[in-house]
Amino acid sequence: MTYYDKLASKWHKITGYKGGAFKELILNELVISKINRIESKSILEIGAGNGYFMPMLLKKKSGQRPQKLMITDISTKQLETAKKIFKISYAEYRMLDVYKKFSIENNSVDIIISNMVFNELKGVGLKNGLKECERILKIGGRIIISVLHPEFVEIQIKRGVVKNNLMISTEGFRVPVVQRSLQEYKSSLESADINYTLDNAYGNQALYNIKPKLKELKGIPIALIIIGTISK
Ligand SMILES: C[S@@+](CC[C@H](N)C(=O)[O-])C[C@H]1O[C@@H](n2cnc3c(N)ncnc32)[C@H](O)[C@@H]1O
Repeated sequence: MTYYDKLASKWHKITGYKGGAFKELILNELVISKINRIESKSILEIGAGNGYFMPMLLKKKSGQRPQKLMITDISTKQLETAKKIFKISYAEYRMLDVYKKFSIENNSVDIIISNMVFNELKGVGLKNGLKECERILKIGGRIIISVLHPEFVEIQIKRGVVKNNLMISTEGFRVPVVQRSLQEYKSSLESADINYTLDNAYGNQALYNIKPKLKELKGIPIALIIIGTISK
């Protein structure tokens, strides 16, 4: 049983249909803005959680239908929620563990999306996961990853919000977090031969109205968005 198997039903109750306040107000739009056309593309979502993101993306790109849609997570309980609450009729729901070889063919995927997963992966999880992503992406393929920003994690450790690699999230439960520098993200992308640009997601007043404690961190980026491309 994975950590999120135990958390799955609470996770859905609390993060709900838009992923929680930060995602609803800031991150979802920012990530979606990095995704180009999805019509006839092969798309993989890694660590989909309760599965709220993909229906939202499809709605924003209305009229465009991917050729293949793989919604994955290590937690079968999260996948059950995704299938029950956010079912997309033509999507494949599959177990995928970033630490292991993905059972997906080389050069077969156009777009990979992963929100708030890689910041939870210890040790070789980041490097190996990125290498696997590079392997399965087509030339010209794109990967969009959001993670908690290293500066945000660092300050939350100092404030005691992150302890023993667990962060008390603003939604009130503990989620795994790895302390990792920006340089470590960059060098892992480089060693996986992924070309990248980076963007930061900051809080805004609408978020601070709902999560006043985050206002104390105004000016600190909350999330890092990695936009990777593959040239091979
Ligand atoms: C913080 S949640 C994010 C879920 C969703 N992407 C979202 O933004 O709401 C992290 C998710 O990553 C999944 N996860 C953790 N370790 C994983 C691994 N090694 N391989 C694949 N998924 C993993 C968890 O089961 C969980 O659903």
